[in-house]
Amino acid sequence: MLIIENQNYEAMSKKAAEHIIERVKQNPFLNLGLATGGTPQRMYEYLVEDYRKNGSDYQNVKCYNLDEYVGVSKDNKNSYYHYMKKNLYGHINIKEENTFIPNGMAKCLEHECREYEEKLTLSGGIDLQILGIGENGHIGFNEPGTPFNASTHIVQLDSSTRKANSRYFSTVEEVPTHAITMGLHSIMKSKEILLLVSGENKAEAFKQLTSGKITTDFPASILQNHKNVKVMECLGLNE
Ligand code: PGA
Repeated sequence: MLIIENQNYEAMSKKAAEHIIERVKQNPFLNLGLATGGTPQRMYEYLVEDYRKNGSDYQNVKCYNLDEYVGVSKDNKNSYYHYMKKNLYGHINIKEENTFIPNGMAKCLEHECREYEEKLTLSGGIDLQILGIGENGHIGFNEPGTPFNASTHIVQLDSSTRKANSRYFSTVEEVPTHAITMGLHSIMKSKEILLLVSGENKAEAFKQLTSGKITTDFPASILQNHKNVKVMECLGLNE
């Protein structure tokens, strides 16, 4: 695990965007795994800025998102589909048919999970996966207790996760109770992982991620077993 310290959120976001841009240049057919949430937001702005200025080309790039809420439609402003459109897909030349997000409105959610996992496998695998991390150690929506061998599955969200995400809703009750998420096994198959961690509230999670015990109680700890993980942090731990 390579830890890259950054002065602040701006610097971290810029560096993460530059990393993605470099990978897209090296491989125009890149399979990119993407995350939502507050942490990668500025990184997406940098990607859009770069696209406008330098015309980085996404026409053959395929993007696979980690997760989506169950029961939230694409046009709902809290859907991750909407987030991706607003923050990235609506501003670069990626083809709609090359963007993949689990469908939380699917009639049969189990079938949707199987199909999503199949798409990941058929793609040849994620070349670069971007991750955030929850205070409870979740990556994607793999909450504590998720088996390490899980593929894409339906998850009941932890109350702490619903509370953390309630900032985007009017009340915590409005936050969906379930989601579809790529599993820990799906994530671990990625060739390269870039995890971003920002904010004082994530300092403990960072510690457990980088030097804690590998345990399903802290799902992100499994990343210690991955051969190519970069953790970009801006926690101000050494200031
Ligand atoms: P955040 O979410 O970037 O909004 O903190 C990260 C996560 O919960 O995985």
